Amino acid sequence: MTHRAGQQLGNYRLTHLLGEGGFAEVYLGEHLHLGTQAAIKVLHTQLTSDDIESFRAEARTIAHLIHPHIVRVLEFGVEGKTPYLVMDYASGGTLRKLHPKGTRIPLAPVVSYVKQVADALQCAHDEKLIHRDVKPENMLLGRRNEVLLSDFGIALVAQSSRYQSTPRYGRDDRVYGSRTNSGQAASCQ
Ligand SMILES: Nc1ncnc2c1ncn2[C@@H]1O[C@H](COP(=O)(O)OP(=O)(O)OP(=O)(O)O)[C@@H](O)[C@H]1O
Ligand SMILES: [Mg+2]
Repeated sequence: MTHRAGQQLGNYRLTHLLGEGGFAEVYLGEHLHLGTQAAIKVLHTQLTSDDIESFRAEARTIAHLIHPHIVRVLEFGVEGKTPYLVMDYASGGTLRKLHPKGTRIPLAPVVSYVKQVADALQCAHDEKLIHRDVKPENMLLGRRNEVLLSDFGIALVAQSSRYQSTPRYGRDDRVYGSRTNSGQAASCQ
């Protein structure tokens, strides 16, 4: 996979690679006209014309999920056959990076993380939207060190090709109902 730093996607110039997962690369992007920053998630998968409609519907659903502890999806697009999502940039990195595997975390921050993530999941479940990949790599930290859960529903988009959600963390969340496709705002603020 060729790295896309320096390229333009939609209204964003990709400045550098923030990280890479099993099915996407995530870049810091700068808006060409506004100068604002965002995280641009470029999926490895190539969409067929049928997939594009599913991706559009999925992106529409998660873009309506507005909550203080959920990463906001701002925009989506398809460049050639490559889908990408524009999300809020979480400058604090991931909880996994802050707490590498094997380190002990004091109780107080654990309780705080759990409360924030549970609140985000409750909002999504109220909208019949399941996450499918709850794990520290998908818990980001915002400017005020708040936890922001990312990657809602993305699993469903990429699933058709190569992506499987991470079993260790994904299982419990997955037993809840099915997702909504209503496209209605799901603000739980
Ligand atoms: N909104 C964001 N703001 C800042 N950094 C981000 C954002 N989203 C993702 N990242 C960074 O990009 C990395 C890759 O993210 P991605 O979601 O593609 O993979 P993952 O969640 O680590 O693993 P996988 O999706 O394969 O299970 C993350 O670990 C994180 O460091
Ligand atoms: Mg992720």
